[in-house]
Amino acid sequence: MRILSGIQPSGVLHIGNYFGMMRPAIALQAEGEALYFIADYHALTSVRDPEALRTNSRRVALDFLACGLDPERATLFRHSDVPQVTELAWILSTVAPMGLLERAHSYKDKLARGVAATVGLFNYPVLMAADILIYDSDVVPVGKDQKQHIEMTRDLAVKMNETFGQIFKLPEARIQPATETVPGIDGQKMSKSYGNNIDIFGDEKETRKRVMSIVTDSTPVEAPKDPERSTIVQLYSLFASKDELANMKEQFKKGGTGYGDFKKELFEKLREYFAPMRKRREEILRDKSYINNVLTKGAKRANEIAEQVMQRVRKAVGLR
Ligand code: ADP
Ligand code: TRP
Repeated sequence: MRILSGIQPSGVLHIGNYFGMMRPAIALQAEGEALYFIADYHALTSVRDPEALRTNSRRVALDFLACGLDPERATLFRHSDVPQVTELAWILSTVAPMGLLERAHSYKDKLARGVAATVGLFNYPVLMAADILIYDSDVVPVGKDQKQHIEMTRDLAVKMNETFGQIFKLPEARIQPATETVPGIDGQKMSKSYGNNIDIFGDEKETRKRVMSIVTDSTPVEAPKDPERSTIVQLYSLFASKDELANMKEQFKKGGTGYGDFKKELFEKLREYFAPMRKRREEILRDKSYINNVLTKGAKRANEIAEQVMQRVRKAVGLR
């Protein structure tokens, strides 16, 4: 089984990225050949500062490794170290129906948030399909927001297979129901671009401030509170044991505890959870060549697979 996923270096990684994509991806590295990449070509649709793109890309690699990506088992590489994906994206775009891309939620959402309507942004799902198909991927661990992109990938693979014969495998999204959409501090989906994020390796003071500013209703301290609709409880459930979670829910229903105290409990759990990863991160940082070595090795392996698949594709469509 081949497992593939990507993450954009468009900012700093948050706990939504961790629970939605990174943790499941790390768990899957024991189940087959895993390939994970830093989607710098994709990030070009929003990042216009070359230094920021380079710095973020290294930081994503560092954070992913600190969280448990094992380079002895999984391949970690930069998207742009496999330029063949842009060639495949072009070929796929020649069969991609306009209507398919026009239905993409993420494109419409981005326009609604004021992102410039570029051809690259519109074409993003085609590049993403190329990312997946070029490695003959079977399984793609992602958060729920990426589901439609995987469906579009399958549509494009079917279209290519119908037109040129059997070239591509049909990949499947792997979405964890319990963590498919992690809420941000405002209760909406956590996202780098919504400013509602809690970062995995954020500065402690800033993280505490963010947790303390989780939006709640104005139920007074002594009154019973509804745990089922609370962002605090939802976030706490990611870190706490079953008993701890049941206990917090009980305290909510009983009344007598203010939201501030629950937030403090959440902050402590969060800090505890990421502490070993923070330590690992410091260790990685001490070895100056570690990340470069991992990425160089990753690029080599990713290139081998991509080049093999591209030879099949070029032959099938009549190039070379
Ligand atoms: P962002 O929305 O912050 O820019 P990305 O689009 O870079 O995040 O997402 C990277 C990965 O993390 C994707 O697989 C995505 O589905 C997952 N992800 C992002 N935000 C969340 C969230 N709030 N809950 C669950 N998964 C998420
Ligand atoms: N579009 C994904 C995101 O914004 C990142 C990504 C790019 C990706 N190519 C991919 C994810 C291929 C999985 C497979 O999060």
